[in-house]
Amino acid sequence: MPEPATPATPVTFPPAFLWGAATSAYQIEGAAREDGRTPSIWDTFSHTPGKTAGGEHGDIAVDHYHRYRDDVAMMADIGLNAYRFSISWSRVQPTGRGPAVQRGLDFYRKLVDELLSKGIKPAVTLYHWDLPQELEDAGGWPERDTAYRFAEYAQIVGEALGDRVEQWITLNEPWCSAFLGYASGVHAPGRTDPAASLKAAHHLNLAHGLGASALRAAMPARNSVAVSLNSSVVRPLSQDPADLAAVRKIDDLANGIFHGPILHGAYPESLFAATELLTDWSYVQDGDLALINQPLDALGLNYYTPTLVSAADPEAAAPRADGHGSSDHSPWPAADDVAFHQTPGERTEMGWTIDPTGLHDLIMRYSREAPGLPLYVTENGAAYDDKPDPDGRVHDPERIAYLHGHLRAVRRAIAEGADVRGYFLWSLMDNFEWAYGYEKRFGAVYVDYTTLARTPKSSALWYGQAARTGTLPPVAEI
Ligand code: FCB
Repeated sequence: MPEPATPATPVTFPPAFLWGAATSAYQIEGAAREDGRTPSIWDTFSHTPGKTAGGEHGDIAVDHYHRYRDDVAMMADIGLNAYRFSISWSRVQPTGRGPAVQRGLDFYRKLVDELLSKGIKPAVTLYHWDLPQELEDAGGWPERDTAYRFAEYAQIVGEALGDRVEQWITLNEPWCSAFLGYASGVHAPGRTDPAASLKAAHHLNLAHGLGASALRAAMPARNSVAVSLNSSVVRPLSQDPADLAAVRKIDDLANGIFHGPILHGAYPESLFAATELLTDWSYVQDGDLALINQPLDALGLNYYTPTLVSAADPEAAAPRADGHGSSDHSPWPAADDVAFHQTPGERTEMGWTIDPTGLHDLIMRYSREAPGLPLYVTENGAAYDDKPDPDGRVHDPERIAYLHGHLRAVRRAIAEGADVRGYFLWSLMDNFEWAYGYEKRFGAVYVDYTTLARTPKSSALWYGQAARTGTLPPVAEI
């Protein structure tokens, strides 16, 4: 398809393109203690004083567990043809091992059936950060056994839902699980041990590989298995060789550490060299890389903002970036020689600079990194301080502009040959934004946190029109 020539030319997507929205279990479900569910690391963390804004937690969240039927009806009304959600591991396997709780699986069966009945394609993420607390108590992701527990869980869910769900994602953003969870500690389980975070990264990779194999063994061959990475678009502050070296280091720690073994069966040599004072990587056992390097059917890319780095001035305290909260501990092990900078430009409510060129560059990079592998944007979106008007409507022109800009960037990448099959807006509705609690609203649907009433924002209407027509409406249209 040729690229649209001018902004006035309609921006049209391929006919089979998936127009989805994404959520995750802990952020929306609530029902934290119902039907046999036990605490995950996020229940424990959010109930620990000082860990989340206002001490907020996901006990009720937006009560999707009880309102899923209405939520699916709302998705259909908006016009979505796909929905990405995650499974709560401790709802299905409360101790993280052993037999499944059927009531937990039944919830997801009903949700999937509801989606299918409305013509909405489900995409299931097995792990969106909510490790059963019992597995953290046994050592968590730095412990090798956790990867084997994940494979067992993947098999259980694959057997239960593999007949009706075609699109599968093993892990969401393993970078966040490893480095926000075990190095900076701004996410559950809140540990601040850089050596353990690297071990966690390896065991997350192993979990992906073992989980992908377990899914394949449990499901019909037509199903698609992928992983969602939040690979960073790392840019140098200048062309100075020291700044370019900083880019390479962060590219290894953000990207190569995951896509290296997952896509190519090897960690970057430069990663070993950069981290040698912290770890000898002896937990990478013979055969692990082959287990991790499973053939995939697709790759999920999550993108919000680029990362701008330079060599750190040894005299100055290096600013640290992780995007999801602040900590005295860096999420970047062995990278005290790197400084992080704010990319110039307009920002969202998260403080994240809006830069659709980053999404284009990310897609083009992974088209080269994984030739022939279909790509999905499995998350992209923006938080704004949305408020209902006196008439009860929620106008969010900034979010429409954000989506428009980023979808144009996706379309440009397609025109340049990238095989992008779908886009999942983050998020369907306002929800529990991890360490920020309920204060950051990413939804295309507004949630009143007193009544839990849902109101589609104008961005939902705009996006729905794009989904129904396959063409981006002008930004001012809604
Ligand atoms: C991503 C997470 C998602 C949400 C968005 C804003 O990193 O996967 O759950 O927090 O950021």
